[in-house]
Amino acid sequence: MGNLEQQENWNGPGGQSWVRYQERIDRAVQAFSAAVLQRLGARSSESIIDVGCGAGTTTLALAHAVGENGKVLGLDFSEPLLDLARKRCAALPQVSLQQGDAGQPRTERDFDALFSRFGVMFFDQPSIAFANLRRCLREGGRLTFLCWQGRDNNPWVSQPMACLLPFLPETPPPPAPHAPGAFGLADKDYTRAVLSEAGFKNIEIDPLTMDMTLGTEGVPSAVDFNMKLSPAAHLTKDLPPSTVKKIEAAFTELFEQHESQGHVTLPGSAWIVTGRV
Ligand SMILES: C[S@@+](CC[C@H](N)C(=O)[O-])C[C@H]1O[C@@H](n2cnc3c(N)ncnc32)[C@H](O)[C@@H]1O
Repeated sequence: MGNLEQQENWNGPGGQSWVRYQERIDRAVQAFSAAVLQRLGARSSESIIDVGCGAGTTTLALAHAVGENGKVLGLDFSEPLLDLARKRCAALPQVSLQQGDAGQPRTERDFDALFSRFGVMFFDQPSIAFANLRRCLREGGRLTFLCWQGRDNNPWVSQPMACLLPFLPETPPPPAPHAPGAFGLADKDYTRAVLSEAGFKNIEIDPLTMDMTLGTEGVPSAVDFNMKLSPAAHLTKDLPPSTVKKIEAAFTELFEQHESQGHVTLPGSAWIVTGRV
């Protein structure tokens, strides 16, 4: 998927299901979110760009951390997600939200930090996009973001996928290495090279493994969550209802093995990436 397809997806079905499932997505990644926000350590009066801010959950957290004397600029190219972010941030004068490609050149030069929770893996020319973002930082400004490690280190994706594949008429081809998408920055050597080419210094890439909460109301809620979001939503959309039912049964069997007191969790692994201007 190139940049245009990403824009279409996040403005279309992908963005709409993220709006619908915003609270559950936030719950799923809550542990990751807390860790990356702590690592950024946003301070009162700072100015921060939230790249690919989506529905604005981390924009809100950053706005509270910087206070009314600070500023948070949320960038995203998804209109449905930004609509929701605008509603959620309406009472916070320190927040502004802009629609557009976050990888394009910008005029700002004085931000203290660039931040992202899973919003920077979709650039089709990542070195150029990160270089443009870097120029928005003041001297000494910092970069902190979260991106996924590879599928094999993310059982919350790979195990449901293994259940689903036998039901597809043909196995989808594996994505090209480093292709824009959720796993676009999974290769840490590649990410380091991208950031270094973009002009960042002191690059650190640390692993973070935590539980992803796929449901808090029993196995059926986790099955529903999994069916409605990518990749399952995309891969099953043209299948006959009888096949979809079989896939739901396979997910049910899987999630029953990972359920405790109504919570379905599977491990996930991300990278926390930091750098400096
Ligand atoms: C996986 S979602 C993460 C959203 C949000 N950061 C969160 O954690 O809930 C990725 C977000 O990045 C946005 N995005 C991806 N590429 C982008 C780009 N080049 N410019 C602006 N937004 C982008 C998408 O529209 C989407 O909202």
